[in-house]
Amino acid sequence: MDGFSSIADLAKLKEGEVKIRGWVYRQRGSDKFKFILIRDPTGVVQTIITKEEVNENVWETAGKLYIESSVIVKGKIKPDERAPGGVEIQVTGLEPVSIGEPYRLQKDFSTEFLLDQRHLWLRSQKMKQIMKVRHHLTIYLNEFFDNKGFYQVVPPIIVKNACEGGSQLFEMKYFNEKAYLSESGQMYGESLIFSLGKIYVWAPSFRAEKSRTVRHLAEYWHLEPEMAWYSHEDNMKLQEEMLEFVVQKLIKEHEDLLVALGRDVDVLRHVKGPFPRITYDQMVEKLQDLDVKFEWGQDPGADEEKALTADMKVPLIVEKYPAGMKAFYMRRDPKNPEYMLNDDMLAPEGHGEIIGGSERIWELDELLEAMKKAKLDPNDPSYSWYVDLRRFGAVPHSGFGLGMERLLKWVLNLDHIRDAIPYPRVINRVYP
Ligand code: 4AD
Ligand code: MG
Repeated sequence: MDGFSSIADLAKLKEGEVKIRGWVYRQRGSDKFKFILIRDPTGVVQTIITKEEVNENVWETAGKLYIESSVIVKGKIKPDERAPGGVEIQVTGLEPVSIGEPYRLQKDFSTEFLLDQRHLWLRSQKMKQIMKVRHHLTIYLNEFFDNKGFYQVVPPIIVKNACEGGSQLFEMKYFNEKAYLSESGQMYGESLIFSLGKIYVWAPSFRAEKSRTVRHLAEYWHLEPEMAWYSHEDNMKLQEEMLEFVVQKLIKEHEDLLVALGRDVDVLRHVKGPFPRITYDQMVEKLQDLDVKFEWGQDPGADEEKALTADMKVPLIVEKYPAGMKAFYMRRDPKNPEYMLNDDMLAPEGHGEIIGGSERIWELDELLEAMKKAKLDPNDPSYSWYVDLRRFGAVPHSGFGLGMERLLKWVLNLDHIRDAIPYPRVINRVYP
């Protein structure tokens, strides 16, 4: 556009006059030379200003620039073996677009400060690269489901139901009544399989998480496939195929980004299905073998999940939890009704749960029974529509939920989930 080259393109050009636009990334110099690193979304290039070779105006302007000033630079490409793209630019013209103010992110790099300055910190190389990976994973997930004949659908965000038990609902005033920010789009997703067969909801979910952890957000992006006719077995297979597809495609197409972010790509190469599977009961035994304090009937938390997967390179599936331990809609195993046809997928390297899924109760009587146990009123209009789905041509079906930021945290081996999203919402922060 307008004769500008992107910084990534410079390497291909190798020589000639070019014009680039971007932001000052670093600068240093003497009274004869100035070296200004310019960044744009595609890369970083070193530009050199030689006092003797440019007019006074250019030299003076260069002296006024700050980190992050926006500029247009003209010059000649010079090959330079040590430079990242193999080239640098000998400047002939320099035009400030906005010199601005001295940059704020120079000395204080404490976590809280960088979170306060998130709108600026997103310009860092690390955050930029993470956001690129997020984009690619988003595209691959869409591609995976599209290839398999799924339709993407949207759920309402303002709801009256508590899909996951409701202990973590954000309450809101909806005109004259009480409503909630959705904690899962699953129930609405289920309603759409009757027309579309296989769907996936992709929307934000909200959890009023009272605890501060490295893996909980109050607002996260939730991908929730739901499939008519799928069994528990089919459901787990789909989860495996999905993770293998997106991870292997990311390695194939963007290994450079993974390397730039310090990810051990060889570990990720192991992510190929089928993944190891254990039952809840086997998990309890395993935890006891590992000397982790844990009793049958408890839901494993971060510490237990870490212990289970710390040395693993592929995800671990834990299936068949004791009946009633999780959400009301999970179907019991007809062969062993003390247990449910559900699974949690635990990411390797200690990252913990990234997926929760199950076969759904699809028979009316069974659902009414489960709702009674969960103290949910099947005639309450917040839930009666969901019960209706079991009255008109019900079919067996299954589905699961994947947390997008949990996926990124594992794939990039991030220390904290907040870096998987541009503007994290956690207990003590709703800004910027
Ligand atoms: O296990 P959860 O609560 O299951 C559901 O919401 C089901 N309705 C999903 C379904 O079957 N359609 O949440 C599913 C996933 C978790 O495995 C985790 O990856 C992510 O959502 N998740 C969170 N991610 C970030 N912050 C939080 N507070 C999260 N809570 C759940
Ligand atoms: Mg869960």
